[in-house]
Amino acid sequence: MKVVIVEKIHESGIDFLRKNNVNLELLYESKKPLEEAITEADGVIVRLARITEQLLKIGKRNSLKVVAKHGVGVDNIDVEAAKNLGIRVVYTPDVMANAVAEFTLGAILMLAKKFDKYNLEVRNGRWNVRYTAENIEIKGKTIGIIGYGRIGKRVAELSRCFGATVLVYDPYVKVQEDFVYQTELPVLLRKSDFVTIHAPLTKATFHMIGLKELRLIKQGGFIINTARGGIMDEDALCQVFSEGGLRGAVLDTTENEPVRLDNQLLKFDNVIFTAHTAGLTDVSVNEESLLACKQVFQVLNGEEPTYALA
Ligand SMILES: NC(=O)c1ccc[n+]([C@@H]2O[C@H](COP(=O)([O-])OP(=O)(O)OC[C@H]3O[C@@H](n4cnc5c(N)ncnc54)[C@H](O)[C@@H]3O)[C@@H](O)[C@H]2O)c1
Repeated sequence: MKVVIVEKIHESGIDFLRKNNVNLELLYESKKPLEEAITEADGVIVRLARITEQLLKIGKRNSLKVVAKHGVGVDNIDVEAAKNLGIRVVYTPDVMANAVAEFTLGAILMLAKKFDKYNLEVRNGRWNVRYTAENIEIKGKTIGIIGYGRIGKRVAELSRCFGATVLVYDPYVKVQEDFVYQTELPVLLRKSDFVTIHAPLTKATFHMIGLKELRLIKQGGFIINTARGGIMDEDALCQVFSEGGLRGAVLDTTENEPVRLDNQLLKFDNVIFTAHTAGLTDVSVNEESLLACKQVFQVLNGEEPTYALA
């Protein structure tokens, strides 16, 4: 059995596969092109690298049986093609949900309490920044959650602890919790002080937050995107910031990753970039790595994997 690990993952999963006598090709060390490595692989473990139909076909002609996504957003894998080729696709939901939700609340706190600004001002000798009294209280404000899956639900629970009103837009689920108000997207955008995106990137959600939607957010509102950059139109966000419509944003994900240094959003001090780190914690990276590797092992041993998409 040979498994190719494309990007670096926590040792927990690597140790598990090694203990089970699986041969590993660590692509981030060997620097072999994936097109070449996939010809010898029974399994591939990937984080954000693209697994196209073409790559899957090359793998299928040889011995590829499973692709594991280390993470949740499978927009980098052609899952339909894998299904058609009879290649299993597994992923690691749940283990990241709390991490991303806590990060989202951290982002909301950062926007509301301006830690980054105060730190800079103090370091530049401007202690008097304290008299600007710009902090915002979250209690009594409205947090609008787009996408009420694993992460969205946990964001709702945490938001409730802060005493915020919680609105949700998700056309595919029926909200059960009595402290969450399910609504349509335009209503959510108009009423929310903080809008946070937790839907997957699909053909249907690509640029679902465009100029029209961003202009609906109340004057002085904030937006947080920890889902995928492609869900929000970055040019539109730039325009809305130029118009002074929004007060701030935290972008954990962007359309191009790494963020290109000519990205116009970098001009705005009130846009905070966090390098796609929302899901990466002491707990989650360990669990994700193990879960991805265990599922590859399950498939290669003819067992049903825990979280299969194909
Ligand atoms: N930044 C990070 O580090 C990080 C980490 C993990 C996940 N993510 C992203 O977060 C996304 C959500 O993760 P999750 O675990 O909550 O997924 P999930 O599948 O549990 O939930 C996604 C929810 O979005 C809803 N949805 C689908 N289309 C929608 C639409 N058009 N409008 C509104 N809602 C819609 C679905 O019905 C579902 O309830 C992932 O797809 C991934 O891209 C980012």
